[in-house]
Amino acid sequence: MFTPQEMFSAFWVDCHRPFFQGKKIVVGITGSIAAFKAIDVIRGLKKCGAEVQAVVTPAGLKFVTEVTLAGLTGCPVVTSLWKSSAGSATQMNHIDLARWADLFVIIPATANSIAQLAQGRAPNVLMTEVLATRCPVVVCPAMNPAMWLHPATQANVTLLRSRGVTVLDAGTGTTACGDEGQGRLLEPWVIISELTQFFVMRSERPKKVLVSLGPTRSRLDPVRILTNRSSGKMGIAMVYALYKKGYDVTAVVGAVNGVQFPSEIRQISAPDTSLMAQVISEEIKQVDVFVSTAAVLDLEFSETFDRKLKKSHRIDVKFKPTVDILKSLGEQKLKSNKKFPLLVGFAAETEDFTNNARKKLIEKNLDAVFVNSVAGSDSGFEVDTNAGAWITPTTQEDMPRAEKSIIAEQLVQRIGALGA
Ligand SMILES: Cc1cc2nc3c(=O)[nH]c(=O)nc-3n(C[C@H](O)[C@H](O)[C@H](O)COP(=O)(O)O)c2cc1C
Repeated sequence: MFTPQEMFSAFWVDCHRPFFQGKKIVVGITGSIAAFKAIDVIRGLKKCGAEVQAVVTPAGLKFVTEVTLAGLTGCPVVTSLWKSSAGSATQMNHIDLARWADLFVIIPATANSIAQLAQGRAPNVLMTEVLATRCPVVVCPAMNPAMWLHPATQANVTLLRSRGVTVLDAGTGTTACGDEGQGRLLEPWVIISELTQFFVMRSERPKKVLVSLGPTRSRLDPVRILTNRSSGKMGIAMVYALYKKGYDVTAVVGAVNGVQFPSEIRQISAPDTSLMAQVISEEIKQVDVFVSTAAVLDLEFSETFDRKLKKSHRIDVKFKPTVDILKSLGEQKLKSNKKFPLLVGFAAETEDFTNNARKKLIEKNLDAVFVNSVAGSDSGFEVDTNAGAWITPTTQEDMPRAEKSIIAEQLVQRIGALGA
């Protein structure tokens, strides 16, 4: 996720906090018209619990003020080799932040600063800090498309990447100067999303997980669809929690708008039930675990129409059952004599939760089910919190109400305990 409106939502913060909580991040700002976007990145990181300090080039100070940055970071801003913003030079002003940082991000990075970094030049405090740091360095370029495509800039970017610096691609669109093309600074929520990769637990042979999420939909005519109230939030929280734990995640995203996971997560869009079934039957061959959080429609329109139906016709609309994706996988698992992925289901119930969930577990031959109530207003669809029970063939455990991101972490632990 997430779209601009959602960037600072409580749910967005819940999903990103586990990556950034307590992490020390230096944001270096250079002299680009896009420097204002660094402010939102700092705000977002702070909301997620990171400690942030800013270091700015002299040209950067033409675009953002020291007062704004000090106010947002809660720290003095480093602007000069010869003095801190408190007024006096510290003993090692030029490398203090380099030693402090867990991650060093230059937002935005001008063509000039990229060139300086590639050449190892240090004419200002940002460049001395970035040369002196041993932590990962991320460069977020921003410039006119011609400057970005210039062979000198491209050669500098290639050189930096070959040395292990993460240079994010410049975005495409209209730049501040009015030119069209590649060169824009990525949006703040995309930058934050990409920074998560530095705080993921890495294992040499990560297990592969497939997660389905969101509702599916059935199209009646060009105007009308059938869908359900699932927001996809539980699945989104599962994707982030699995990714954080070091799993290799593929997300099959149903009919949810605006979901954009970090680029290390494979994301496949499948808004229609039949497409979701097709994608899952293909992807399941590659994975160790399938986590089915999607609220797949169990009925769809028997017939679809190319033209908008008139009111009178709508009364005759008929439905047919959809393919039960999880059940057919459970049947395959039963017949299979090879190792089959773990199957984890989600059940949304309004009554008799655990009995209904256990029935689903047995009927569909699943390894575990998380059942949650969709009857109340503080769990299940749309809201940021959830509560329920974790059910396996031999166990049953209540999981009290908590943020979906916390429930997701607890579920990931339990999935791990099943041997995944
Ligand atoms: C209004 C304005 C906007 C600018 N925007 C950019 C930009 O987006 N990207 C860039 O590479 N240079 C841009 N420049 C040029 C840089 O500010 C200039 O190369 C400067 O020397 C960069 O210094 P620094 O890299 O030390 O911050 C801009 C200059 C002006 C006057």
